[in-house]
Amino acid sequence: MAAARIGIIGTGWVGTSVAFSTLVSGHAGELWLHDQRGAVAEGEALDLADGAAFYPHCDVRAVALEQLREADIVVLAAGRNGRPDESRLDLLRDNARIAAGIGRALAGFGGIVLVVTNPVDVLTRVVAAASGLPPERVIGTGTLLDTARLRERLAGRLGLSPLSVHAQVIGEHGDSSVMLWSGARVGGLALRDWAGWRAEDEALLAQQVRRAAYEVIRRKGATNHAIGLVTAELIGCIVRDERRLLPVSRVQDLPGGLRGVALSLPALVGANGAVQVTEPAMDEAERQALAASATVLDQAFRSLAG
Ligand code: LAC
Repeated sequence: MAAARIGIIGTGWVGTSVAFSTLVSGHAGELWLHDQRGAVAEGEALDLADGAAFYPHCDVRAVALEQLREADIVVLAAGRNGRPDESRLDLLRDNARIAAGIGRALAGFGGIVLVVTNPVDVLTRVVAAASGLPPERVIGTGTLLDTARLRERLAGRLGLSPLSVHAQVIGEHGDSSVMLWSGARVGGLALRDWAGWRAEDEALLAQQVRRAAYEVIRRKGATNHAIGLVTAELIGCIVRDERRLLPVSRVQDLPGGLRGVALSLPALVGANGAVQVTEPAMDEAERQALAASATVLDQAFRSLAG
């Protein structure tokens, strides 16, 4: 996409980190910010635009919600953050109303919607249902961030670069996420064949990944930088049509399981969205954990009807 137009709904902690990361990444030709608090969106746009002397490629402005229909990608980052004692699913009732309203406003939208607001998997399904857009064009950041966290911690444990670690997290971006240890590789070697790797390392790192956001929120009140960077990476993958297999969330029918659930499995991500979901190799424990995660998410979505 030449000079992509990126819209961001919600200029709170996360939305402004997405905006900043996208600006410095060079992926956007235009960055349109919207917030129901109009003055806040204007202030964030003015503040970011003041850096344009060094980033002249990108025009930043605050816009009305309607103008976002002209964007190539719209990022949903509006909603309330979780408190230290809350799970992401605890945010569902408050944030589902916002997501449904934005979904309705984007009915017939010709671009791609990226959902960041939590609980991201259920809200991806809410936006897809409310907008009527095809599943491949409503993408949740899902476990892309958990995968980044896992790779970073694995690399630290083994004393090498995260770029040499190939491991991924699938399922819920949340407490029921699934670490795919059986398929994890470091360089050309299976992780479980790596000298010094112990079974207890898997439980320890899984807990660290699942607790990562809570540890940040407990200290500073929200997470924003990592999700901002991950979302900018996802935007770049779409804008440059990179066709990378990434664990992102989208509505899908699970092999031999639930239908129409949004959760993260590796999908082929490029200019047309998350177009092709592939079922990764899993051992029986991972397969059962994925089914359990899908059930948690499906029940959460159905609870909205109650
Ligand atoms: C986190 C939020 C984005 O995991 O859910 O940091």
